[in-house]
Amino acid sequence: MCGLIGYIGNRPAQPILIDCLRRLEYRGYDSCGLALLGDGIQVYKDQGKVAELQRGLSLNNERTGIGHTRWATHGRPSGINAHPHLDCAGQIALVHNGIVTNFLRLRQQLTQEGHIFSSETDTEVIVHLIEKYYRGDLAEAVATALGQIEGSYAIIALQTGPKKLVVARNESPLLIGLGDGENFAASDAAAILDYTDRVVYLEDGDIGVITDREITIANNGHEVSRQVQQVPWTQEEAQKTGYEHFMLKEIHEQPRVIQNTLRGYLSAIEPVAPEIAANGDIAQVLLLGCGTSYHAALVGKYLLEKLAKVAVRAELASEFNYHDTLLSKTWAIGITQSGETADTLMALRKAKSLGCKTLVITNVVGSSATRIADEAFYIKAGPEISVAATKSFIAQLVAFYLLALAWARIDTSSRERLMAELRLLPNKVQQLLDGQDDIAELGEYLSRYDNAFFIGRGINLPVALEGALKLKEISYIHAEGCAAGELKHGSFALLNPHTPVVAIGAQDNTYDTLLTNIKEIKTRGTPVIALAAEGDREIDKLVDHVIWIPGTTPLLSPVVNSVALQLLAYYAARKRGYPIDQPRNLAKSVTVE
Ligand code: F6R
Repeated sequence: MCGLIGYIGNRPAQPILIDCLRRLEYRGYDSCGLALLGDGIQVYKDQGKVAELQRGLSLNNERTGIGHTRWATHGRPSGINAHPHLDCAGQIALVHNGIVTNFLRLRQQLTQEGHIFSSETDTEVIVHLIEKYYRGDLAEAVATALGQIEGSYAIIALQTGPKKLVVARNESPLLIGLGDGENFAASDAAAILDYTDRVVYLEDGDIGVITDREITIANNGHEVSRQVQQVPWTQEEAQKTGYEHFMLKEIHEQPRVIQNTLRGYLSAIEPVAPEIAANGDIAQVLLLGCGTSYHAALVGKYLLEKLAKVAVRAELASEFNYHDTLLSKTWAIGITQSGETADTLMALRKAKSLGCKTLVITNVVGSSATRIADEAFYIKAGPEISVAATKSFIAQLVAFYLLALAWARIDTSSRERLMAELRLLPNKVQQLLDGQDDIAELGEYLSRYDNAFFIGRGINLPVALEGALKLKEISYIHAEGCAAGELKHGSFALLNPHTPVVAIGAQDNTYDTLLTNIKEIKTRGTPVIALAAEGDREIDKLVDHVIWIPGTTPLLSPVVNSVALQLLAYYAARKRGYPIDQPRNLAKSVTVE
């Protein structure tokens, strides 16, 4: 949720920290701050965006510093609650991502011992604990302090005196970036790509000491070595490159993303899931995810059941963690773009502890989920900066097509037909993008309303749920995704001429019933926008507006339909003038339960 950055090296730290903070802003953006280390520690922090913080800074030549962008969990967004936090003596500064669950008890205890707290945050107890245990070695004090902490953390600390950064992680992402005469610490690689693509991912329990020349990492008091890895993303991928918003750029990247995900997997489908395809020992698949990734899981359920003929449960990770469940001979698959979503990590751990074989479908190499799961399937979508997931969703869907094909119990010619259609998908999506002006107009039309329904059936029901989520999160129009057949069972009461319905069609066995549902909706004077395959002359006569979708096989229609709905949401939000890449109250990666 929060973004962390640390720099130590031979260049002025302030502009580098500001630059990295801007790139981290998608992780949280209600307040931000930095601390620079010279003879003493200077802290600059406030509520608001990095650009505002930057305006208040004067030139500073210190070469060591830490920074933070915040998504508030404990204490409202404010200058006082913003990080970095200082100890009483102002000698130690700290930035933190995560949640200290026992902070109230620790705070009471530290207050009794004479520590004075200035913020409402859980983070501040960590810096006071470090102060309490400090006996001349910052890393040792950090280790002792963290021994008292329950919860999750990634921290970067610095202290007056010899220039170094001390970093530590437990269940929150943190990596060290290796430069030439300079080193970095960051909560994700995209933040430092302009400076280095060589990184070391920290493991839970690691405590590292970073100087401009070297890094040392210890775990449980013993020095450990961690592999240096190359980040598989380019600088360009992490920039807007002329687009007005990251979201629009990421929508436009989708033809290439589909190709990337297919490449290497499609020509050799068997290796995608070698054991699983051959393993008769699996009785059911359990799909676990949150938000958009959960919607991908719902499409995945449909595909695996249809093609692999295996029983599939798709569960919200946040719910799965809190009920008793029977899992025998189960293959659990976590779906998570970031690989850091707390609920999904917990769910994967639980499934593992219940004896399941585990896989994670993720976009982030080295993420926490990849360390929990037995295997990882990388969707290769490149960095996704916009808070609203777009290209990662499409890549997750492609991953499920591949998985279902790898495992398919269908005849060779059906399999080959589907593979051929998959290869055509990037062109279909490109065609849709090329003709997006009509969708832009409809997005602007939708922006006039305060409520909307999205309906679909079969494999396009999750597309309806995702379309509604996308619209509400960036345009703040209240939107509800609903099974087309369910509308009559209650929600119909809300239909009126001021509540448009977006109906998602596909030329499959649900089509005729969807047309009937549309007719019923029209009797209430409700405006209907339909997504329909090019050439469909029937739907055209029934609805107010049509978004024409380049034809593909119904099984692949969720991909093209979803891209159309992403554009619809984008243009509605743009017309309303909202901050599309950073919607209010949200953050890219939800690392708290
Ligand atoms: C919505 C969105 C979220 C995420 C959810 C899970 O646009 O992005 O709903 O899908 O927070 O995130 P990951 O996939 O990183 O686990």
